Amino acid sequence: MIVTSQPSEFSELLEQARRAGRTVGLHPTMGALHAGHAANVRRAALECDLAAVTIFVNPLQFGPGEDFEAYPRDLGVDLELAEAAGAGVVFCPSTEAMYGRSPLVTVGVKGLAERWEGARRPGHFDGVATVVTKLFALAGPCTAYFGEKDYQQLVVVRRLVEDLSLPVRVEACPTVREADGLALSSRNRYLGPEEREEAPGLYWALLAGKRAIEEQGVADAALVVEEMHRAVRRQPLVELEYAAVVSPEDLEPVDEVSGPARLLIAGRVGLARLIDNVAAEKEDA
Ligand code: PAJ
Repeated sequence: MIVTSQPSEFSELLEQARRAGRTVGLHPTMGALHAGHAANVRRAALECDLAAVTIFVNPLQFGPGEDFEAYPRDLGVDLELAEAAGAGVVFCPSTEAMYGRSPLVTVGVKGLAERWEGARRPGHFDGVATVVTKLFALAGPCTAYFGEKDYQQLVVVRRLVEDLSLPVRVEACPTVREADGLALSSRNRYLGPEEREEAPGLYWALLAGKRAIEEQGVADAALVVEEMHRAVRRQPLVELEYAAVVSPEDLEPVDEVSGPARLLIAGRVGLARLIDNVAAEKEDA
């Protein structure tokens, strides 16, 4: 595995691979790698000839008062995990290498990026879109792997690629969970023991909403949301921010569920702000 912090070397390595006829899979991360990232890297390594992982805690996507400084960083552990998962190249640039000069040009995302996470974290998706565009520009043509765990991010990245005609194929990776359903997240390490016990309550609420749609045939989204609220209230340490039933493509809230939908949830548990989502599909009556 080759590790580089130099943008030009990263570009060159991937370009060389393509010239040799090899396909490139890219998995952008902020480090603090866990089994979810590992699964995504394994898939990239399985489906492509060269799996490249990027590790960069992107300051542009953190708002004031968020956890940019506290965000866990342990490059040694991350490199071991990336190598074990089959990464051939790891790119871990410094902030100076990525944003040597404070950028005058950034990527802005309207509409769906201003809802849900975007409404609570103004500018977040502009920061994500800007760094992902830079990483795609450095990587060149590739297949990029993004987790469904951050569903809104996945949809934003799909639109980014489509709207700016970037030479990238985006693949969605299923959410990897703990045995009790908690989605793996770098931020789970902020949870105290009692908070950790209640944190899967967000996922249980999503499952309650999914059951209402798929097993009880509920079509009224307001009733599904109420069901999710009720489920969250069973965990007093979970402070709900939003629970919603949305269209899977544009994340607009739906009134009546028919066909495929996405259930979104976000909340605070102690110091951790956690998000999760599941697919739900209403069969025709
Ligand atoms: P990060 O939170 O490190 O996540 C990197 C990738 O791993 C994302 O595509 C995310 O959706 C995926 N991922 C996270 N938890 C997962 C889980 N439990 N199961 C499967 N995949 C999971 O998302 C970011 O970094 C950044 O915003 C980034 C795209 C790198 C831009 O800075």
